Amino acid sequence: MNSTETALPATDAPWIVMKFGGTSVATLPRWQNIGELVASRQAEGARVLIVVSALTGVTDALKQLCSESKAINRSEAARAIAQRHYDLLDHMQLSMPATLGERLEDLARLANEGAATLGELAWQAQVQAHGELMSSALGAAFLSHSGLPTHWLDARDCLSAVALPNQNERTRLLSSMVDSRPDPALAARLAAQGDVFITQGFIARESQGRTVLLGRGGSDTSASYFGALLKAQRVEIWTDVAGMFTANPRQVPGARLLQRLDYEEAQEIASTGAKVLHPRCLSPLRESRVPLLIKDTNRPELDGTVIGPEVRAHAPSVKAISARKGITLVSMESVGMWQQVGFLADVFAQFKHHGLSVDLIGSAETNVTVSLDPTENLLDSDAIAALATDLAKVCRVKVIAPCAAITLVGRGMRSLLHTLSGVLAEFGQLRVHLISQSSNNLNLTFVVDEEVVDTLLPHLHDLLISAGALRTDDSALFGPSWQALYGNGESVAATTAWWRDAQREALLELAAEKTPRYVYHLPTVRRQAGALKSLGAVDRLHYAVKANTHPAILRALAAEGFAFECVSPGELQAVSAIVPASTPLLFTPNFAPRDDYALALDTRATVTLDALHPLEHWGELFHGREVVLRIDLGRGLGHHEKVRTGGSGSKFGVPLDQLTQFLQLAQTHGVTVRGLHAHLGSGVLDAAHWGEVYVQLASLAERIDSVVFLNIGGGLGVPSHPGEASLDMAELDRVLREVKAAYPQYQLWMEPGRYLVADAGVLLARVTQQKGKGAYRYLGIDTGMNSLIRPALYDAWHEIVNLTRLDESATALYQVVGPICESGDVLGTDRRLPEADEGDVMLIAQTGAYGKVMSSHYNLRDEADEIVIE
Ligand code: LLP
Repeated sequence: MNSTETALPATDAPWIVMKFGGTSVATLPRWQNIGELVASRQAEGARVLIVVSALTGVTDALKQLCSESKAINRSEAARAIAQRHYDLLDHMQLSMPATLGERLEDLARLANEGAATLGELAWQAQVQAHGELMSSALGAAFLSHSGLPTHWLDARDCLSAVALPNQNERTRLLSSMVDSRPDPALAARLAAQGDVFITQGFIARESQGRTVLLGRGGSDTSASYFGALLKAQRVEIWTDVAGMFTANPRQVPGARLLQRLDYEEAQEIASTGAKVLHPRCLSPLRESRVPLLIKDTNRPELDGTVIGPEVRAHAPSVKAISARKGITLVSMESVGMWQQVGFLADVFAQFKHHGLSVDLIGSAETNVTVSLDPTENLLDSDAIAALATDLAKVCRVKVIAPCAAITLVGRGMRSLLHTLSGVLAEFGQLRVHLISQSSNNLNLTFVVDEEVVDTLLPHLHDLLISAGALRTDDSALFGPSWQALYGNGESVAATTAWWRDAQREALLELAAEKTPRYVYHLPTVRRQAGALKSLGAVDRLHYAVKANTHPAILRALAAEGFAFECVSPGELQAVSAIVPASTPLLFTPNFAPRDDYALALDTRATVTLDALHPLEHWGELFHGREVVLRIDLGRGLGHHEKVRTGGSGSKFGVPLDQLTQFLQLAQTHGVTVRGLHAHLGSGVLDAAHWGEVYVQLASLAERIDSVVFLNIGGGLGVPSHPGEASLDMAELDRVLREVKAAYPQYQLWMEPGRYLVADAGVLLARVTQQKGKGAYRYLGIDTGMNSLIRPALYDAWHEIVNLTRLDESATALYQVVGPICESGDVLGTDRRLPEADEGDVMLIAQTGAYGKVMSSHYNLRDEADEIVIE
């Protein structure tokens, strides 16, 4: 590092405030790193103010010193602290700078004297301030010596504590607040002195001239105060992690880096559990609109989190889910007293009297429940018991603990509620003590028993992604996962979609010939077939052809050894025309007419019945035949309500209470039940599901001697949103082997559709028109719900890319729409894409399943054609 290499800042050069915490200032390499970072900011043409914490562990050591009653012990503690600084100086090969020497002497004197002269609290503040005074003095010496002339600045000369109502001597001295209105005079004074300054976090001065501390998170807060006073270009907090994440990475390794947040969201995330930033440090910046950047000292190349004024140009999204443990609930029950004037005031006066600050409030006709957060309160059992005793004079009190508050944070939370049904359903299964929606529309909080949190949180995070509530597809907001950034290589690199690299040119050529067009990639079908064939416990795999009946796909899967499941004469015919005559077929219709069964019984297909009616009314048709019985196990599952095929709300299957009747009818008509079948729905990502179905069917089959196989359906999901966890096939293999071992007498059959073909297909279309309207930008393409109805029907999310401009940066936010005369003709909402032009080729991914087969001639628009690539 050489200061002559860096351009000197202009007189009106902007300020950058850089804050480094205790571990970042504790070693020589860390200081070298700081030197490089500061030089790089100077090279940007900025003046730099460095704010530092005490060397790691020193603040605690100083607090310990303060608690010693004997002078000799205090002096010994001061010597040990001094030694830490001597050691670092040694490493730096520096002689003792005068600034540090004075501080060490000062500390030794304070330790020896004790609190008598200054008074206990003022003395404590003075002693603890030395951590930062010493580290900054040491830093100034090191940086200047390394060729970066650095001025040491006493933060107390710049930060003036303000007197606030409700402050007592303790908060005034140990947890102070600072006036942070911009101070152009300070900026000018410093600019006249130099370009690089180093100062202390955590400390300020009050009106009588005494040193005060800023409380927890104090160094971050100091950096913010300086940022606001100097009206800095930005404040940078350098720490040991790249920024704020969508959840606590220790609980949720798949948590994503939040690349952009507005002040209020960041404040909310910090207040509801994230430790990386103290919530207090945001308000000084919010007022002066100075952005704050969080960066990882060890990985400066990572983008980090930028927190700034509200940015509206993005999709509404849940930004984070956080959990606070150790919450105590106080439920106050009374009959008929709430209406009395002043009753609530009396109750809350008790909280004030006991020095307890209330966080959340829920109220009902005869009950008010409030939560107490341990980070805001000293929640020992004595304090709670004393409160309860006093409250008991006016109402019935119940204390519920330990609880945890789980909070979803995102601007405009109310507009996101419709995406949260899956998450709400999850809470529906738990004891939820309190739900609170913040009046600023930024958060939704659920208070539950503490013990459920650790397992619940990762699950909820997944649900938020799969429901599209946490819009991980918006690459401007959501960065890589913690696992990808810091995991020890455990996370499997996501396989790149086939259409992204190798086949892109071929696809562009195909689109140049004609759009709209479906393109299917057979190697992907075979890869998926291979994954299913690796399930050791499965005896027979069928392809549910309703997902995609393209002849090439049927042929490919027949060659892979698959059997086929059909639901109509049309499907039976299509399959029979393609696959070898020896390939087994299943016929699994629902509410089909008599003739369909008659037709199927004339083929080799095994027929499945899922109602009493066929045997009741057409018994003779089935006489002497073998059938499969589809059972409704009483519950449904799947990616959307409309694809769940179990429970009394669905039309499928014979309910358990009609099972005996079915078996009697079968006996009457000489029909043999050879197999049992259940299919609960489509798009399931939880491997345990199929194990449960097998066990349930097996226990029913034990009552029916003739049964030899159990068909546990299809429904295997493929994740669609970026970062969504995929179905764990190794786990599915394990689950199936386990249940098969428990009931080895049955063959295990499956009939997946989507899993085999979804990723193999894309829909190509062309940009037709663009339109700006209100806050929205619409991007029109030459096909819509007529070719792909899944977004309109199920709110399904398909990745959409501009294939023509795959490498351009995604700067526009589009609503991608088709040409159909329906408001629902929207293929993708709030999609971050490159600026598009008429004629660009757009690709809609994962459309190999339930795409073409569900398309229509609506509006008499031409149907998309289909092309297969090998
Ligand atoms: N077996 C039966 C009895 C079925 O009803 C289905 C699908 C499957 C197997 C295959 O399910 P898969 O493995 O593909 O999930 N159109 C909806 C899906 C409806 C599925 C209908 N039945 C969608 O686009 O998501």
